[in-house]
Amino acid sequence: MTATIVESFLDTENTEPYSFYERVREQGNVVWDPRMKAYLVVGNDAARQVLQDDALFMHPFSTMQAGSAYARIRGENPRSFFFLHGEKHREMHRWWVRDLLSPQWVSRYRPTAVEPAIQALLAQLEGRAEFDLVQDYIVHLPVRVFARLLDLPRKDEAFLTQLKRLNDDIAAFASLASALKLEGEVSEETKALTDRAVQAAQELDEILRPIVRERRGSAGEDMISRLWAGGPAIFPDWNEVDTLDACRRLLFAGIDTTTHALANALHMLLTDDALMQKVRDGGRPAVERFVEEALRLNGTVQFRSRRVTADTELAGVKIAKGDMVVVILMAANRDPQAFGCPHAVDMERKQPRNHLAFLTGPRTCPGATLARTELVEGIQELLERFPLLRLAPGERPAFHGFMMRSYGPLHVQAGD
Ligand code: HEM
Repeated sequence: MTATIVESFLDTENTEPYSFYERVREQGNVVWDPRMKAYLVVGNDAARQVLQDDALFMHPFSTMQAGSAYARIRGENPRSFFFLHGEKHREMHRWWVRDLLSPQWVSRYRPTAVEPAIQALLAQLEGRAEFDLVQDYIVHLPVRVFARLLDLPRKDEAFLTQLKRLNDDIAAFASLASALKLEGEVSEETKALTDRAVQAAQELDEILRPIVRERRGSAGEDMISRLWAGGPAIFPDWNEVDTLDACRRLLFAGIDTTTHALANALHMLLTDDALMQKVRDGGRPAVERFVEEALRLNGTVQFRSRRVTADTELAGVKIAKGDMVVVILMAANRDPQAFGCPHAVDMERKQPRNHLAFLTGPRTCPGATLARTELVEGIQELLERFPLLRLAPGERPAFHGFMMRSYGPLHVQAGD
């Protein structure tokens, strides 16, 4: 029997969706959303089943109406990471997880890319009694880390702002596409937004191309040189388009995700004095534990969609070939069957990383170690430098977004 929800997931945009998820859960672990034209998956077991089997539950971009725009944004490169399936995807994924962004490499990048970016940003805030953590700190951090990872020759404010703007234009498109809002009839406004994203991807290529060309054959430790060095093991004719595409992938996958995650984690601390005190008192191990709970409860990516490639059954619900399932990661992360006190922060969980913020299975986020490093370092340094940090009276933070959501603004006071 397929349960159907009368409300639609679409109506939860720009709100905290957690009570909606619980109403869906009352109907079942897999529930049909007629307006979204997709099955919502809120159960942890069912979510894992989908994410583990990417042959039956296929990454959808290449089959979506938005697929042609995605292809243009990816420079018409059919071997772009997101478009790969099966064994070739596995090879690419292994390279990114075990080599490019492995814990060993991230620990080498921590002192050269992550820590200097954090220190430089916090130094600018020193002495200020009030600031907006989102606009004055959080949004700047991941793009600065990216510029250092790639060792881009320019790292000035104007250049980084330009990179961020181009990334925002692409993100605006991706957000609509992921929410399945580019399927069926598409408005003029949406078409314009898609064109802007394609244009942004081209501008990004123009900025990066000369640097990518110059680094070919270099033995450097920056990501561009390492992409050139390692790519031929995946595709023997690895070329400039592949390297550029991978650079864009790094920017796009790593910037917004980490920005939203940092905002959400800090919002949790700033709105819960007891939690703030516990994290401050517990030092680094407590920050690490807290970051996992923040990712589980409010971890940026609310959901991912998948296309079913054969008639099947999921949590007792029959699903036909071609249908879409929307795996709601942040609902699966609050499933009472999987987590005790699912809505509360519990710093003592036995398996603190056993959540789905970075997915699970063959498409697990390869940037998870880097993201965790940015979050832990970014929070710990901030708390150490600003022992009195608290929310300022006035505008309250609101939860914005749909596929990715975060709280903002975060106006804080830092002085006595
Ligand atoms: C808190 C921050 C982050 C979160 C919550 C996050 C989450 C995710 C999720 C949910 C996916 C799966 C997308 C899908 O298959 O539908 C993903 C994929 C990916 N992420 Fe992350 N991510 C974060 C940071 C990063 C960073 C910093 C990088 C790299 C610099 C990165 C690189 C990637 C790449 C390359 C993929 C594609 C993997 C594939 O298709 O097999 N991510 N991420």
